[in-house]
Parts: sequence; structure tokens; C-alpha cells
Amino acid sequence: MKTIHRLLAAAAGVIALAAPAALAAGEYKKPEEHTWSFEGPFGTFDQAELQRGFQVYNQVCSACHGLNYLSIRHMGMEGGPFYTEGVAPNDNPALQAIAAEMRPIEDGPDDFGDMFERERRVTDPFPSPYENEQMARSANGGAYPPDLSVIVKARKGGTEYIRSLLLGYDQEPPEDLDIRTGNYYNPYMSGQVIAMPPQLYEGIVEYEDGTEATPEQMAHDIAAFLTWTSEPHMDARKRMGLMVMIYLLILCGLLYWSYRQIWSKVEH
Ligand code: HEC
Repeated sequence: MKTIHRLLAAAAGVIALAAPAALAAGEYKKPEEHTWSFEGPFGTFDQAELQRGFQVYNQVCSACHGLNYLSIRHMGMEGGPFYTEGVAPNDNPALQAIAAEMRPIEDGPDDFGDMFERERRVTDPFPSPYENEQMARSANGGAYPPDLSVIVKARKGGTEYIRSLLLGYDQEPPEDLDIRTGNYYNPYMSGQVIAMPPQLYEGIVEYEDGTEATPEQMAHDIAAFLTWTSEPHMDARKRMGLMVMIYLLILCGLLYWSYRQIWSKVEH
């Protein structure tokens, strides 16, 4: 399998070399191939990787991007970054600590009809960086940082696109491309121009597990984490698929055996 992949990659390389180097306006570069633990029918998420990815989201991306479709407790579900066997997500101490460190949440009304702020809990949603879209746009020169909950499903190329996009800032723009101030050349973005500044500098995050936080490592981890946020039940779904296949195989065997039994008594 690996050799076939390598041969294909080499062939793609030759074709890429033969093609004109600069992309025409409106075109964009295909995301780079990369290997993930969750690929294929048996692939599962790597928990350490998801935890690191969350750290990148929490310390870098959450300044501008929300995760509106998730609550903090989801990270403690089976297959999630902070899942611990036998511990309910709501009682997960790691998540309780994470929630308490996040921005307080508005709750209420209290007995006097007033809204009040309180510490964020595991059952609360992730904090939104902006109150509304207008505020988000005005803080980002008119561009809107999309919610990242299901971004991997929403973009062609999925996980690989996110990784390539985050690492794709160091390339030389074509001369005829008009890049206005506050915008950056990124060949993986549709239109090749993005209003998001480069994010992943060496050492912007200090990983709690001691892994060296190179831009490549961070891009890998955050792309894995965002794949999990867009499909938190993937591990369970794959396991169920496998059980169904085993069940069908046994059923097939039984049916064949009973067919032989029934027809063995008939003269022919
Ligand atoms: C300073 C604010 C800011 C931070 C921090 C930030 N982004 Fe963005 N991001 C933006 C803006 C603004 C856009 C919209 C860009 C556009 O439409 O040109 C964007 C767009 C995106 C997109 C969508 C690109 C597309 O295909 O439309 C992705 C994916 C993304 N950001 C991922 C991330 C990740 C992952 C992080 C953390 C490592 C991050 N961003 C950190 C401001 C930010």
C-alpha cells in the first residue's frame, strides 16, 4: 500500500513540475497529502493528539473562532480528547478545570430579574469570541472568522485542507495577484488570498505533554482536533460498522449451513 502511495505521490510530483508554477486567479492549490491516525475503516483518534489540538484551539484560534456546536462536556465523551474510562463527562476533573479557566458566562435572570456572570461549567458551551457577526467583522477588517465546529466537513479537502492552509503562508505570491493590506497570500485558500494572519509561530504554544510545538506539529494537532469536533462520534460509528460486518458474516455462514441442511434431504 505504502509503495503505491509513494509511486502515486511521485507521479503527482512529476505532473506538478510539468504544470505552470503560478496559479491563475481564482484557482487554489490542492492540500498536501498527510497521514492521520483516524484514516481508513479501522482508524481511531489519538487522544494525546486531540488534547494538544485543543490546547492550540484554546490558546490561539479561540481568540477569533467559536466552536458553537459543542459544549465543554463533549470533550469528555468516549473518543473525545479528555475521555476517562468510568468518569462521566460532567464529573471529569480535567474538564472542570478547563471550564473554570475559560471566560465567565452570562446567566440569569436571578430573583430580581437581573442577568449575572458566573464561572463557566462543563455543561456550558465554548465561549464565543464575539457577540455577533458584525462585531467579528469589525474586529477583522471586514472578514468573518467562521465557526470551526464543522469546518472540516464544510471545506473540500477536510482535515488536509486545514493543515495545509495553516502552513501555507510562506509561499511566493504570483506577481499579478492584487493583495490588499490586511490580506495574505495563501495558495490553499480559494481565491488564494486570506484575511487571517499566519497563526502558527514556533513556540506560540507550550505543549503540556512536552511535545515540541513546531508549526507542523501544531497544524497536525489542530487539524486532528477539528476533525474530531466535526465528527465526535466517529470512533463509535466505526466500531458499530465493524460489529455489523461481523454479525452479517456470521449470519451468512448460518444461512449457508441451513441451506445445505435443508437441501441435503431432497433427492435430486
Ligand atoms: C486574529 C484572528 C484569528 C485567529 C487568532 C485565527 N483566525 Fe482563522 N480566520 C480569521 C479570519 C478573519 C478568517 C476569515 C478569512 C477570510 O475570509 O479571508 C479566518 C478563516 C479561517 C478558516 C477558514 C478558511 C476558509 O476556507 O474559508 C479556517 C479553517 C481558520 N481560520 C482556522 C483557524 C485556526 C485553526 C486557527 C488557530 C490556529 C485560527 N484560524 C486562528 C481570523 C483568525
